[in-house]
Amino acid sequence: MKFFVDSADVEAIADLNDLGMVDGVTTNPSIILKSGRDIKEVTREICEMVSGPVSAETVALDADGMIGEGRELARIADNIAIKVPLTWAGLKACKTLSDEGRMVNVTLCFSANQALLAAKAGATFISPFIGRLDDLNLDGMDLIAEIRKIYDNYDFGTQILAASIRSANHMKEAALIGADVATAPPNVIKSMANHVLTDKGLDAFMLDWAKTGQKIL
Ligand code: E4P
Repeated sequence: MKFFVDSADVEAIADLNDLGMVDGVTTNPSIILKSGRDIKEVTREICEMVSGPVSAETVALDADGMIGEGRELARIADNIAIKVPLTWAGLKACKTLSDEGRMVNVTLCFSANQALLAAKAGATFISPFIGRLDDLNLDGMDLIAEIRKIYDNYDFGTQILAASIRSANHMKEAALIGADVATAPPNVIKSMANHVLTDKGLDAFMLDWAKTGQKIL
């Protein structure tokens, strides 16, 4: 499973990138607001650091507007994936932009039917939002499993990009189901390394090592 970082925090992305953990980056208008940065400036900086797809989201609500904004965002770098919402206008924009050979990430997906439409429209990525479904007491992972089944039934090339990931457990479940990509905030990716037994075991080893009186260096 590829890891995308759901953030526009350049330092946090760089930190993970140095460890080879970053296959791409996703942003959205809320993430840009949180960064306090200019969208083009921060996106260019991220694209220079990360070689994989960097999603930048359009904000127009009509297809022509999204297409125009998408082309403008794509001028930032070759690895831009244009993000459009899963509306009828977004699907039209997806078809046009993907026919032009651009990467398109169709976002705000909450049903298998929406994912099926995005694949038909030529999306490179479909972004089902797990956490926001869980917030409503629905099971976001069921949606990932449904989309996986449908895409495999018909050999759709659209990649499932599990989004709105809130926990390390979400990452594990997305990987088990077979999501192609999961995008998560830096703290969630880092939390995947945590285990109480690792901490406990390390404490015990340190105590015993101190008793040996030895040094390695
Ligand atoms: C995905 O591309 C979105 O940017 C993101 O995952 C949304 O997550 P949220 O529901 O935590 O805002």
